[in-house]
Amino acid sequence: MQATTHDRPDPGPDRHRTGAGTTPDDHIVVIFGATGDLARRKLLPGLFRLARSGLLPAGYRVVGSAPAADALGDEAFRAHARDAVEEFGDSEPAGADWEAFEKALSFGACDPGDPGPLLAAVAAAERAVGGRPRRLFHLAVPPAAFASVIGTLGSTGLAEDARVIIEKPFGTDLASARALNETVHAVFDESRVFRIDHFLGKESVDNILALRFANGLFEPVWNRDHISHVQIDVPETIGIEGRAGFFEQTGTFRDMVVTHLFQVLGFVAMEPPPSLDAQDLRDETAKVFRALRPVDPAHVVRGQYDGYRREPGVAPGSDTETFVALRTHVDNWRWSGVPFFLRSGKSLGERRQVVTLHFRQPPLGMFTDAPHSGAALRCNALVVDFDDPGWIAADFLAKEPGPAMRLAPARMTFRYADSVQRRHGLEGYERLILDAMLGDQALFTRSDGIERLWEVAGPLLRSPRAVEPYAPGSWGPASVDALVAPHHWYLPDMPPGGQGSGAS
Ligand code: BG6
Repeated sequence: MQATTHDRPDPGPDRHRTGAGTTPDDHIVVIFGATGDLARRKLLPGLFRLARSGLLPAGYRVVGSAPAADALGDEAFRAHARDAVEEFGDSEPAGADWEAFEKALSFGACDPGDPGPLLAAVAAAERAVGGRPRRLFHLAVPPAAFASVIGTLGSTGLAEDARVIIEKPFGTDLASARALNETVHAVFDESRVFRIDHFLGKESVDNILALRFANGLFEPVWNRDHISHVQIDVPETIGIEGRAGFFEQTGTFRDMVVTHLFQVLGFVAMEPPPSLDAQDLRDETAKVFRALRPVDPAHVVRGQYDGYRREPGVAPGSDTETFVALRTHVDNWRWSGVPFFLRSGKSLGERRQVVTLHFRQPPLGMFTDAPHSGAALRCNALVVDFDDPGWIAADFLAKEPGPAMRLAPARMTFRYADSVQRRHGLEGYERLILDAMLGDQALFTRSDGIERLWEVAGPLLRSPRAVEPYAPGSWGPASVDALVAPHHWYLPDMPPGGQGSGAS
């Protein structure tokens, strides 16, 4: 039976983004790829945290699924979940909360030609919950498996009235993203599709909207008249962590830039939306993506860390980039002439997730002692660190106490770690799974936005420049400095109380 959800759009969010949180309807959550890395690191610990926090509905079941070759029995799946929470969760898998969660777990294998065990597990879970619980399918499987899982959900009728979370990367280029959208839309109406980008679930990324649109202070200067350039920087210290199979096919540009960094850019660059509803918010990011200039390979540095080609599973002559830095523009009135510099890479000197808006210098230099060195001038910036737990700082120049008018760098900081509300904070995946259960698509990517980003990426995907080597622990190939000249890469020190330090 082919599902007919196309004719019946989702009724929409059960909770308005501007309102207080409510708990979702009763749910059956099915995780495809339940024995995989993502489920172990994020999804199972995240669901337990939601359960423990009382954010899951009274009636819920979590059904793990995988091809028969990797299938687990119910008990083995519970043990697998316990290990996952032990290793990656924020609390012990013990006590009454854990026992209740564990009871809600079961497993059903699913292969394209043999979905029987999964159908039986879902039916049993539905009986256990009673009534008509909603189904939410989470496709935590390699992108190559998306189409076949979607096909199975359609042909078995499981998709009916259900919602689906699809992992990134959604396609590998424009043609494949379009084809995947068609496959998905044959079974799920767009209103039931939740393409996940976990950066959009980060508190501090959502907080960019609050910073900009809940205050009169920042928005008036958030434009080309006052901002000289914007840097979105996600250096990572980790390497590819044994993910050669995925990484060789994907590379940093597809893995990090076309997805996470462009989505963050969408929040930084958007016009004020009429509301925070999914449609209004995603209309505004789609407008940014339409104005985003196609990536010019001449303004891109692709790097590969020394030793990458010796990683198990990596081709000896691999041209896959583990680092990318690029310069792009948003061609609209607000941002005309303001370069956006994006950088991300593996095995770099520090881990950061940070947006820096650099302000123009004042027109008149009346401070004879003003520090004119690059580092001091870079004090004129607003820094949004969106790594968990995140912080925001305004870097500026202040008068040093004393008889002379001497200037020194100063900083005002808001730190999430000090915020009393932090106990309500959710990790990116937790927040987004909850939003999907509530039917709120605001922080999920939409088909038109995704396709436009692949279009923007096209020139680089078609004509990549050769990768340049860089030393692990460095800041990438030396040519990244020329890319941003006359500006400089800026990696601000963490505010007091943070860990680590270091500027590029
Ligand atoms: C993932 C990428 O989507 O995001 C990884 O596939 C990357 O390569 C990770 O390391 C970074 O996310 P986080 O959770 O560290 O913010």
